[in-house]
Amino acid sequence: MQHHSILYSELIGKDFSFASVRRRLAKEPFDRANSRQNQTRTRVSMEKGGVDSAGREFKNAEEMWREQVGEDQSKKTEWYRQGVGYWEGVEASANGVLGGYGHVNEPDIMGSEAFLNTLLSERFPDAANSQRHLVVLDCGSGIGRVTKNLLIRYFNEVDLLEPVSHFLETARESLAPENHMASDIHKATNFLCVPLQEFTPEAGRYDIIWVQWCIGHLTDDDFVSFFKRAKVGLKPGGLFVLKENIARTGFVLDTEDRSITRSELYFKELFCQCGLHIYKSKDQKGLPEELFAVKMYALTTDLPKKVHRTRSKVQANRPGVIKAK
Ligand SMILES: C[S@@+](CC[C@H](N)C(=O)[O-])C[C@H]1O[C@@H](n2cnc3c(N)ncnc32)[C@H](O)[C@@H]1O
Repeated sequence: MQHHSILYSELIGKDFSFASVRRRLAKEPFDRANSRQNQTRTRVSMEKGGVDSAGREFKNAEEMWREQVGEDQSKKTEWYRQGVGYWEGVEASANGVLGGYGHVNEPDIMGSEAFLNTLLSERFPDAANSQRHLVVLDCGSGIGRVTKNLLIRYFNEVDLLEPVSHFLETARESLAPENHMASDIHKATNFLCVPLQEFTPEAGRYDIIWVQWCIGHLTDDDFVSFFKRAKVGLKPGGLFVLKENIARTGFVLDTEDRSITRSELYFKELFCQCGLHIYKSKDQKGLPEELFAVKMYALTTDLPKKVHRTRSKVQANRPGVIKAK
């Protein structure tokens, strides 16, 4: 028992050090890296430099990936083993999955709910009068925090994907009908214990594939191949929602949990490689100032609709004729 409680406090300490690493990173290394990078404008953000959690600088993402995962499969396997290994040592609670920032749950859910409401009313208006059976996949679901506080209230079925088994088991328990106000028409259906880089969804099952605070664990190659594969899982008109920390520039590598925080430009380049388009995006508000900025993206496979002009561009650019009365 004694041993367990020591282990417990060590884990809590680890959580908080994880959070404080994030806090430190949000400021100093960026300012240093920024000032240097701004001297030479790079066109491609992935070519921009980045830093790791110890403040070490990388010339570009390629250099970092070469060092972290290299070409051979065993290094990549090790990257993923350490990522999952980190979370296996974290307490299965909201505070645990939020890196010691359990109180961020409330603003996070409120921000997501507003974003989701807009998406549902614009993309699936027939869902309002229960004409559509809504299904969502919660990726890297952890203990099912997002499902329980948000998704299950809006979707008829939620599938959860999470590679850390003690998180997934906690989710399964808390979402069980006897512990939750689940009903026949709002329920958690499948609990998939698999990492994103090894997952291919069932074709045409989901209205939304929700990916929150976990994509940083995937290498760029796996990021792109995951989204390319996962497109088959969307119903016609379906969307990906990606909610993630955003680095001010380049990237930040966390050597403790094996994840990277990408800049907005970095994400946009990856979306482009995935063949995905930004349908809508929104900044998350109300988070502690010392944390990374957080952004929500709704991504589609279809091209954004062209804005139809009533007058041709040529006409619109002509100076107006001043007419006398
Ligand atoms: C910061 S927690 C966020 C959990 C949940 N999305 C939430 O917002 O409460 C990161 C989650 O990503 C999961 N994860 C780590 N590596 C992963 C991978 N390769 N594929 C999918 N999920 C992964 C972790 O196990 C953990 O549950």
